[in-house]
Amino acid sequence: MKIILSIILIYHAVSGCYSKISQADKLLLDVYMETRCPDTQVFIDDQLVPVTKLLGNYVEVTLYPYGKAEEKFVGNKWEFICQHGPLECQGNTILACAISMTNQSIYVPFTSCLMRDLNPLSNFRSCCEQFKLDLNLVNKCFQGQKGNELQHHYALATSSLVPKLVYIPWIILNKVYTQANQDQAATNLKALICKHIKVPPPPECS
Ligand SMILES: *[C@@H]1O[C@H](CO)[C@@H](O)[C@H](O)[C@H]1NC(C)=O
Repeated sequence: MKIILSIILIYHAVSGCYSKISQADKLLLDVYMETRCPDTQVFIDDQLVPVTKLLGNYVEVTLYPYGKAEEKFVGNKWEFICQHGPLECQGNTILACAISMTNQSIYVPFTSCLMRDLNPLSNFRSCCEQFKLDLNLVNKCFQGQKGNELQHHYALATSSLVPKLVYIPWIILNKVYTQANQDQAATNLKALICKHIKVPPPPECS
């Protein structure tokens, strides 16, 4: 009996090293962002891409590609007015579609890829190819009702923020905005995540 128990305990100890942490133990990182926005691009490239790659098992990254856009319902669909013009709205919608079809290990670097050019349409095809997204499916969503509804969903999420967002990107850890977290996320996201990780700090943090 004792031996069996020991074996079970050893098994759990060993398998624990390899298992991912539970969903409930993951930090929630919400990023309110927009295409054609240099500050968003710098944050995605310098902080979010490397940290998602390194610590993705410990963090659930949610992107809200809407920024400071505004919406109104016209006829039978939503119309959006974006800070950086119609191209930004189109880029945001492509991201919304890509996000709905992939997980964060794809949609975070895909976002970086799409934003590499100020015109998000110019890399649309090559980014889909690079991340093995079906261009026709993404395009159908982007041009159609699905993309429109996804953008509206992000509009609602953005407008219901408390406090209201002031900067883009607006970064929230575990659903509570603090200026300190915002500032640290922009300069050292890895340290911020490692400080708040709920399980013993993983080797990636040292
Ligand atoms: C994310 O999606 C990719 C591509 O479909 C897949 O290979 C990978 O296992 C997924 N990762 C997670 C954590 O689900």
